[in-house]
Amino acid sequence: MKNMSRREFIGSASALAAIAALAGCGSTGGNTAATTEAASTAAAADAASLVTEGKLTVGTSPDFPPFENLENDEYVGLDMDLAKALADKLGLELEIKSLNFDAIVPAVAAGGQVDLGLSGITIEPEREEQVNFSDPYYIDDLGVVAMKDNADVTADTYTDALNQAGVVIAVQSGTTGESYAQENFPNATTQPFTNATDCFAQMQAGNATAVVTNKAVAAKMVADAYTNAQVIKEIATGEEYGIAINKDNADLLAKVNDALQALTDDGTMDSIVNKYFG
Ligand code: ARG
Repeated sequence: MKNMSRREFIGSASALAAIAALAGCGSTGGNTAATTEAASTAAAADAASLVTEGKLTVGTSPDFPPFENLENDEYVGLDMDLAKALADKLGLELEIKSLNFDAIVPAVAAGGQVDLGLSGITIEPEREEQVNFSDPYYIDDLGVVAMKDNADVTADTYTDALNQAGVVIAVQSGTTGESYAQENFPNATTQPFTNATDCFAQMQAGNATAVVTNKAVAAKMVADAYTNAQVIKEIATGEEYGIAINKDNADLLAKVNDALQALTDDGTMDSIVNKYFG
């Protein structure tokens, strides 16, 4: 299923960032003390501080195909291709760190562990209180998944069928799927799991009636791994995925937005998206 609903993912903010970056590049040292001081301050601000010099350290939760998962111990997926392309653009070596999804935004906010959180993270107001987000790079929705042989849960019945005492809905801890289930099926038990793929395994094992996760992931999981399950309903949340960056690292934010814009302009972003959704 194609996800053609994504909007133009790079807005004018990154164009502004690009202009600001260009303006900052032009300064050369003069010969008065004041000018030299100004020039060195500009140079210091230009060098984004990184967890490890020369490296772009990216935190991700590799349980979310087609955005990030492990294949033969290798990180693969749209976000991982994007991480590599960003690192290349920034002239940095890429290092991926595996974190539980609900630990990524806190780790970025705390600093010192990862430079970026790149993990299908929806830009949400509560998260924006803790971290900065890049311009959006992908738009997704939610999907409700149930077993194919469960005739009780369909697009027509799910709002009532799932909102009942005794019904368990499996979600990944700290995700938009979790808050959606809590808000919309208050009579059911929303059961959070650390690992996104565990939600599907639990449902298959009969321990949950439904899974709520992002649409692209739900589609991928039922197509590849859980073929006896199906997406019974798509919910148009229009979630924008962004890259989380520490609030004190405005320079890295500008560089990432600048790089995203360049990757959009040169067609890299489209080819990455088409590789997974073409
Ligand atoms: N987009 C959802 C959110 O931000 C889920 C992301 C889960 N990502 C992952 N790699 N498991 O809450």
